[in-house]
Order: sequence, then C-alpha cells, then structure tokens
Amino acid sequence: MVKIGLFGLGTVGSGVAQILHDSANQIQQEYDQTPIIKQVVVRNVEKYRQQLPDWADFGLSNQPDDILTDPEIDVVIETMGTIDAAEAIIRQALEADKSVITANKDLMALRGPALIKLAQEHGQALYYEAAVAGGIPILNTLSTSFAADQVTGVAGIINGTSNFILTQMTDLANMDFSYERALKLAQEKGFAESDPTNDVDGLDAAYKLMILADFAFGVQPKMDQVSLTGIRQVTNEQMKEIHLISQLPGLKSSKSGYQLKLLGLARLVEGQNAISLEVAPYLVSQELSLAAIRNENNAVLIESRFGDQTTLAGPGAGQLPTANAVVADLMRYLDYRNTPLLGKPFNRKRSDLGVVTAGEYAQVARFLTFELANNDVNRQQLLTALADNQIELVGQDEILNSSDQVLRFYVHTQPITATQVGALKAELETHLQIQLKSEYKIFNA
Ligand SMILES: NC(=O)c1ccc[n+]([C@@H]2O[C@H](COP(=O)([O-])OP(=O)(O)OC[C@H]3O[C@@H](n4cnc5c(N)ncnc54)[C@H](OP(=O)(O)O)[C@@H]3O)[C@@H](O)[C@H]2O)c1
Repeated sequence: MVKIGLFGLGTVGSGVAQILHDSANQIQQEYDQTPIIKQVVVRNVEKYRQQLPDWADFGLSNQPDDILTDPEIDVVIETMGTIDAAEAIIRQALEADKSVITANKDLMALRGPALIKLAQEHGQALYYEAAVAGGIPILNTLSTSFAADQVTGVAGIINGTSNFILTQMTDLANMDFSYERALKLAQEKGFAESDPTNDVDGLDAAYKLMILADFAFGVQPKMDQVSLTGIRQVTNEQMKEIHLISQLPGLKSSKSGYQLKLLGLARLVEGQNAISLEVAPYLVSQELSLAAIRNENNAVLIESRFGDQTTLAGPGAGQLPTANAVVADLMRYLDYRNTPLLGKPFNRKRSDLGVVTAGEYAQVARFLTFELANNDVNRQQLLTALADNQIELVGQDEILNSSDQVLRFYVHTQPITATQVGALKAELETHLQIQLKSEYKIFNA
C-alpha cells in the first residue's frame, strides 16, 4: 500500500483528496493498489477540521514532521504554494527518500534545477505536471511523446486570467469595455486575485514558460532571460483598431480577423544555437486553433520537426482539473515505484542551447500605425524611414481624419525585430513629425 503525506488542503489539495476517494476502486483495478492519504498538514487546523467530508480518515495537523519523519509515508504531495516554505519541505522529503509531487510553478521555475538534482541523488521522483497549464498534460506529453522529436517552438496561452480579460475586451470592444472593467469582472468570477499583478504583468506565464523551455528544449532559463510585456496597457481603443485592421484591404490581413492573446513563446533562433523567450500580447489569426481558446482556458501549441504542429487545450486551472494532473503524477509514481525509472528526472531533455534576448533576435511580423499630417512629403518620408531600417512591407493602407488634415497610416511588416522598431521610432521622433501610435505583433504558426 502506498501512503501519502499531503501538504495543503485548499483548492488543489482538497481536489486531490476528493479524486483519490472517488477513484479508489478504479485505481485499485488499474494499478493493483490503493494510494491512501495518511496525513494532511495545513497551517490552520481548526478551519479545515470543521469542513472535512465524512469519508476523510486521514490525520490533520500543522506539524510538517508528522509527514516528513513518518517512515510509512512514501510520497509527499505539496499543494501549499509559497516558495521558501515549500522548498524547505520538498528538500526534507527528498532527503528522507520520499518522492514528491508538486503543483508549485513559482518554485519549480525559480528553484527547480537544484530540487531536480536532489531528487536524482536520492533516486526519488519529483513530478510537477500541474505546475504548467493546470489540467493540460503538457509536460508529460513533451517528455514522452516528443522525446525523439526536435521541438522548434512552443506557443502557449498559459495564463487564464489574462486570457479571460482579453476575451471579454475583444467581445465587448464596441461597448467600450475597458481593461479595468474586464479585470473587475474576472475578479468577481474568481478568475483573478485581488492583487492581479502576477497574472496581468505576465510573471505567472513567464514561470510556466521557463518550465516549458526545459521540457521542450532542455534549457533551464533564468527569469531575467524572459522578455516580459503584460496586458495592463491594452486599451479599448486598441481593441477597436485591431478590428479595423482586419478590414483594411491594403494591409493583406487575415480575412477572418484576429484575437489578441497573451502568449508565452519559446522559439529556436535561426543561426544562433539559442532560443528566445517572450511573454507578450500577440495578434492571433482567427484561422489558428489558438485563437479559439477563450476566457480562462489554456492551450499550448508545439511546433516540431517530425510532429509538425500539435495543440493541447483545456482548463489551465481549477480544482479538479489541476488535482487530476497531480493524481496523474501519482499514477506515474505507482508505475515507476520499485524500479530504476523512479530516479530518472521527469524531463530528460538536455541541450547546449543558449538563450538570447527576444527583442534583439526574434523576428516578428507586425502591424504598425503612424499618425502624420496629410501631405505627400510626410508619406514619402515615412516610407523612406521604413526602408532605411530594413523594414519590408506586406501591405499598407491609410485613413484620413474627418477634416482631411491628419492621416493614419497602417503598415503590415515582414518579420522584423523589436530593435528595428525601436530604431525606426527614434528616427521618426527625432527628425520627422510622424508618430508611431501603435504596434501589434502577429503570431505566425
Ligand atoms: N488553484 C489552481 O487552480 C491551481 C492551478 C495550478 C497550480 N496551482 C498551484 O497549486 C498550489 C496550491 O494552490 P491552491 O489554489 O490550492 O492554494 P490555496 O487554495 O490557497 O491552498 C493552500 C493550502 O496550503 C496550506 N498552506 C499554505 N502555507 C502552508 C504552510 N506553510 N504549511 C502548511 N500548509 C500551508 C493552506 O493552509 P491554511 O489555509 O491553513 O493556510 C491551504 O490549505 C500553488 O502552488 C498554486 O500555484 C493552483
């Protein structure tokens, strides 16, 4: 019999207990054993004691040692969150030769490599499927189904809060639905925390992207190697402009239009033996499967040499989907227990790829909008400045304002770097009376 020590009985932890109870017979049939939660550790015991279901027969305390020093406990499941406290517990568990399953993305992104090494030294498992995209089995898929493939890019909608906000702002653009109103709605529906910083500024997506980069490319990046742009600055005016852009014939846009998505992108950079990492809002053509991922849902698109394009989609969070991913890790543990495979890392991919800055190296097609006084000299100066900065165009179009004085000039560029856009912007601001009003990156799968 496998005995479990569970840290945390909140959203995910109570979901794990529920699934292990509800699926006990099924697991017994499939694995010939029934994992039992022996002990749960929380901080506030009284709060949980009052709400335990009838079937709960585990011990409940606030003493980590009730799990960590119990020789009968083989596996520790950590669903507490936090970084320092969770790290200390996972370390002690591994040092006591217990395997560990965690849902903790912050910890695994920031301090994962040292813990993975420790697990190997002790011949124990350290699994963390739930840490990325909640209920979507993306890490296991990358580590097994893509083991012999060569991944060239990973693109993920991996933050449900941002995706909810952007979906609402797109759907309700004509009703002047602002970022602030969309955030408030997300908070009312429980999709955003009262302090939404980690989600809307892209940090949460960056943590998950760092873990994805390890599974896809065998690279363990540092947080400061991820280029970060969140969604706080997205305006209703931009949402209306995105709609307009898809209707301007000269721009050669996607006919079906675009959805603005916060994407986490890890891409192989040609000729550099390196990847670039970026979290930023991108326009995704409605023709691509990622555009159909609405509200709090998540998806990850894997591009690879042999597998071509594969998209996995589903709930990126939530009690039972996330707990299901934790329990799936436990099932892998049951398979590998008492075999040499137990001590193999969850992700075996290793490479000598470096990490280069996305802004300097990632070539991305864009829509740029300029504002200028309506005359031919200005228009020609703008086209010359674009050419001087090696910015080739796919298409262009323009709209005059009602007084015929001011021109909005739209261009659709070939893939270019952020450095090129920066140089163009500086030239326009310094020498010409032309303003770069907006810039939209276009995701091309
Ligand atoms: N919720 C999701 O949909 C989701 C999705 C993917 C990943 N995750 C990850 O899963 C983890 C848990 O998230 P959650 O939403 O379940 O959190 P939660 O609802 O806030 O629950 C946290 C639990 O951990 C306990 N806890 C916190 N600090 C502790 C400590 N130092 N010692 C012992 N117990 C402690 C809490 O007990 P007290 O109440 O007594 O403090 C509570 O039972 C996090 O790492 C999160 O990032 C969550």
